[in-house]
Amino acid sequence: MSNEEVANLFNVRSHNPSFFAVKDSKAYQGELLDFCIPVNLHFPPPELSQMIRNDLGEILRYYPDYAEVHERHIGELTDLPPETIVAANGSTEIITLLCQQAKGAIVTSVPTFSRWTDLPEELQVPLYPILRKREHGFRLEVDEIVRRVKDVGARTLVISNPNNPTGAWLTLEEIKRLASSLPDLDSVIIDESFIDFSDLGTAAARVVDSPNLVIVKSMGKSLGWHGLRLGYAVAEPRRAQSLRARLPFWNINGLAAYVLKTVTHFKQEFRESFVRVAADRRYMTERLSTVAGLTLYPSKANFLFVALPDGMSGRKLRDRLLKNYGLMVRECSNKIGSSEQYLRLAVQTSAAVDVLVPALRKELGRFNTAQDAQITGTLTTGTLTTGTITTGTAGVPPALSVANNRHT
Ligand SMILES: Cc1ncc(COP(=O)(O)O)c(C=O)c1O
Repeated sequence: MSNEEVANLFNVRSHNPSFFAVKDSKAYQGELLDFCIPVNLHFPPPELSQMIRNDLGEILRYYPDYAEVHERHIGELTDLPPETIVAANGSTEIITLLCQQAKGAIVTSVPTFSRWTDLPEELQVPLYPILRKREHGFRLEVDEIVRRVKDVGARTLVISNPNNPTGAWLTLEEIKRLASSLPDLDSVIIDESFIDFSDLGTAAARVVDSPNLVIVKSMGKSLGWHGLRLGYAVAEPRRAQSLRARLPFWNINGLAAYVLKTVTHFKQEFRESFVRVAADRRYMTERLSTVAGLTLYPSKANFLFVALPDGMSGRKLRDRLLKNYGLMVRECSNKIGSSEQYLRLAVQTSAAVDVLVPALRKELGRFNTAQDAQITGTLTTGTLTTGTITTGTAGVPPALSVANNRHT
């Protein structure tokens, strides 16, 4: 495959090509190692896969259960009241609904999961970004978020916690302070899709006392099965009911329904899998820190955000890693507020990391020569100044023009 063909494979808007598209392209002849899609590699246990195989005939033959059954099962898994849960065909279904319902401007931080920036554009809802700054370790302060929301008169705030792709986070205390500072907004949405991989507390139990708080949660990342298309929202019961009423009947397919029903038997394995991912993240962080020229940022998610040396093309590096080593990585130039200087590397097993690290050393050659061997990559401490972070210039910065900013 030519270099141009490999580059074209990735020339898709906002997202990466699917794993299947890369595999089918034969860009690499051997087995691919995926650092692109952050997914739990320590779940599901083989017993659960075997149960599916055994029951597949029935799973596919019959109609699945109704929403209330799924919500009861999610409640059993999460210890949340079922009446606050809205089951969805992936959290993207909920994200779509919430953006469609938004009346007035949305504030969100960038870079972030692209649906949170692309949907407002598609729906012509004004979007005001808060730029996560490199010099602040991509972290945000509660006060700057509140100020931005008030300055632009937004009706909806969306914060992903931990954030994709940076891995930066707010503590539960900070989320509580954020929500209680914005009681008049229509929605304070916290996307906790990666929170299971962290030691952060969820804000989901707060919805009962905060009618404008909505938690969005993808389950595919945690279950290790994105293809199931499972997610949910948590909201105050009346809000939950109004969201539920707008979703299609039978939005949860039979296979996903079966997993929801049976996964509660594997609660311990589920919890333990996150401990194993955290250990993988530590190993990967340590090993990547030995690659001179890379800058790593603290992450509580199952991916690491890394900066390449100034002037190095992330796109070219991505293509070389795929063609020469079968390594798939996510370069972040098509995320608003990011650039091709950044890679998001999904946490992988130690065996896979031991393939990635020498490949990166070789590709970042001039930083990793014998002479430079003592210079190791930098892990930023995440220590932050508490000063004000402002985006834009004087007055209220304009709403985002996505077309102009996609590559910034
Ligand atoms: C922060 C965030 N929220 C939601 C999603 C969508 O997940 P799902 O597969 O449940 O639709 C993603 C996907 O990457 C994500 O990064």
